[in-house]
Amino acid sequence: MAGSLMEVLLVFGLALLCSGASGVPTQVSYDSNAFIINGERRVLFSGAIHYPRSTPGMWPDLIRKAKEGGLDMIETYIFWDRHEPKRGEVNTDLARYARGFPVWLHNLPGIKLRTDNEVYKNEMQKFITKIVNMCKEAKLFGPQGGPIILAQIENEYGNVMGPYGEAGKSYIKWCAELAVSLNVGVPWVMCKQADAPEPMINTCNGFYCNTFKPNNPKNPKMLTENWVGWFVRWGGRKPHRPAEDLALSVALFFQSGGIFMNYYMYHGGTNFGRTAGGPYIATSYEYDAPLDEYGNLNQPKWGHLKQLHAAIKSVEKILTNSTSTTKEFGNANLTTYTNAATGERVCFLSNLNTTQDAHIDLQKDGKYFVPAWSVSILEGCNKEIYNSAKISTQETVMVKKPDGAENRLAKLSWQWTAEPLEDRLDGRGDFTKPKLLEQTATTLDASDYLWYMTSVNITDKAWTNAILRVNTTGHVLHAFVNGKLVGYKWADVGGIFNFTFEKNVTLNPGINRITLLSAAVGLKACINYGAFYDTNTTGIVGGPVELVGKENATIDLSSNLWSYKVNV
Ligand SMILES: *[C@@H]1O[C@H](CO)[C@@H](O)[C@H](O)[C@H]1NC(C)=O
Ligand SMILES: *[C@@H]1O[C@H](CO)[C@@H](O)[C@H](O)[C@H]1NC(C)=O
Ligand SMILES: *[C@@H]1O[C@H](CO)[C@@H](O)[C@H](O)[C@H]1NC(C)=O
Ligand SMILES: *[C@@H]1O[C@H](CO)[C@@H](O)[C@H](O)[C@H]1NC(C)=O
Ligand SMILES: *[C@@H]1O[C@H](CO)[C@@H](O)[C@H](O)[C@H]1NC(C)=O
Ligand SMILES: *[C@@H]1O[C@H](CO)[C@@H](O)[C@H](O)[C@H]1NC(C)=O
Ligand SMILES: *[C@@H]1O[C@H](CO)[C@@H](O)[C@H](O)[C@H]1NC(C)=O
Ligand SMILES: *[C@@H]1O[C@H](CO)[C@@H](O)[C@H](O)[C@H]1NC(C)=O
Ligand SMILES: *[C@@H]1O[C@H](CO)[C@@H](O)[C@H](O)[C@H]1NC(C)=O
Repeated sequence: MAGSLMEVLLVFGLALLCSGASGVPTQVSYDSNAFIINGERRVLFSGAIHYPRSTPGMWPDLIRKAKEGGLDMIETYIFWDRHEPKRGEVNTDLARYARGFPVWLHNLPGIKLRTDNEVYKNEMQKFITKIVNMCKEAKLFGPQGGPIILAQIENEYGNVMGPYGEAGKSYIKWCAELAVSLNVGVPWVMCKQADAPEPMINTCNGFYCNTFKPNNPKNPKMLTENWVGWFVRWGGRKPHRPAEDLALSVALFFQSGGIFMNYYMYHGGTNFGRTAGGPYIATSYEYDAPLDEYGNLNQPKWGHLKQLHAAIKSVEKILTNSTSTTKEFGNANLTTYTNAATGERVCFLSNLNTTQDAHIDLQKDGKYFVPAWSVSILEGCNKEIYNSAKISTQETVMVKKPDGAENRLAKLSWQWTAEPLEDRLDGRGDFTKPKLLEQTATTLDASDYLWYMTSVNITDKAWTNAILRVNTTGHVLHAFVNGKLVGYKWADVGGIFNFTFEKNVTLNPGINRITLLSAAVGLKACINYGAFYDTNTTGIVGGPVELVGKENATIDLSSNLWSYKVNV
């Protein structure tokens, strides 16, 4: 039944789009005008809800609200790092599982991530095959009666592939061949991949995708990530995308021939634990999505989109089985979809001028007011059923309750306990190396903290006052001398995370203990996007760590014997 369709897109690098599984096989195909689900010509609305970003107890309510909001499908990534935290140990319990590669992968000898590299391809093939086989065994794919009706391999690789050269191109071909060889029985997409080989459907991700064209005119025009807002950075403001603008982008996409649209995110949720996805990204992943971090309706966004979905669904039969023409009409663009046999029509009127409203006279079809930066949908081309700038949904109103948080906070009693750090402050770690190690490779992502400890024998009084200088690649450094905190510093929030810490310190004649605590901020101790992003370093790798004395004389401690402790 069309109304109960609720599908999943699988992104692997894999995404799943799911429908409510009914046990009845779902056959999925497409042409340039429609997705064809069991023979029925459809346009599809989908929303990203990533299962690790909410608690399992929230899932039924989130899915119910997604359905009620007019979605046909849910999209989720499959999170490699969550499912294979240790090499070879794949857990398939979806309930226990952020986009990301597991850290062990970085450390395999000879590996280069996301390129034509045998070591990497071997691991990727093993993991994806395992997940797909698991889905097949559980009969999760549409033709098996399951909910998965679409799958994606890789993610926005087109954006970063340039620097990989020919190896990037052959990697993408290999990904396509791998996908096809898995015989999942549902279509595969590749987002932002203009050279996606058939039968991969290349798709658009962005705030607006109306001008996007698939690389094969026979393929459907798909928007796999419509960015409903953005994630929050530390110290940054909460991003907001107005409901009117989001609705405009959706309506414009369908006006321009789109047939599939996925909200990124529909529910963003929370990056639990240390899974924030990159340095200086906050734990909230709310994204200004239609459902807020806790699963409440984010109004008027949720309701305004619900009305839009209903409006487009009401003209779905015409949209998916007709030809369209667009012409400038006054100061708007008029797109008319017409079914050749029946003559049934539906129209979109868009006004992309950001300041100037439009009054459009369609003669016998009526007069229309199209506000600046909006799209109207006209049923039968003569009745406005929706305008993206006209909101009729109630706003969310926050009410401050009496006896609020202040009173309750005042009544709380607090207790403190110091962390036992003596071993570290005394310089006793778990292993030693005569050099400064890279942080992630050392912690294997078991912790965000790595302690670097050494000592220096001061034999010349001239060195009892010196500057401790540490060059680190990020992100936060705390320095202790002889068990006392002497200072801390953190990297700028934007871009480059390496910095130099300098502090005047007092040293004693004889042995002095230097203890440095390096902390990574964000799941992976490196930047999370861009070509070769996995090669970026964190921590005091290579240093140098120096004492700077009079006239800039230096004692280089970098190749001292360093003792290490991963703080777990
Ligand atoms: C598409 O429209 C044609 C008439 O133009 C009609 O004959 C055909 O049945 C329609 N197809 C579907 C799947 O509705
Ligand atoms: C009409 O469409 C064209 C192409 O998308 C666009 O550049 C132009 O701004 C539109 N005009 C109006 C008034 O919306
Ligand atoms: C919007 O309309 C005004 C008035 O017609 C015109 O001056 C302006 O150039 C238009 N802006 C855009 C971006 O089309
Ligand atoms: C520090 O250096 C002095 C002078 O070389 C030496 O006498 C002393 O034993 C050293 N102290 C330690 C603890 O190694
Ligand atoms: C810091 O130490 C350097 C070198 O010992 C010295 O020249 C400088 O005056 C000191 N600065 C302060 C603020 O104590
Ligand atoms: C360490 O930092 C200092 C100060 O920023 C800089 O002058 C020096 O070149 C850095 N050393 C290395 C090896 O990067
Ligand atoms: C990350 O590594 C790449 C390649 O080694 C380099 O081009 C880029 O500048 C690095 N980025 C940061 C933030 O260090
Ligand atoms: C940080 O790294 C960049 C690129 O490697 C380098 O140019 C810059 O000097 C470094 N900054 C510091 C403070 O070490
Ligand atoms: C020591 O280094 C600092 C910064 O690099 C420089 O400004 C200063 O002139 C140097 N002093 C001497 C005595 O070389």
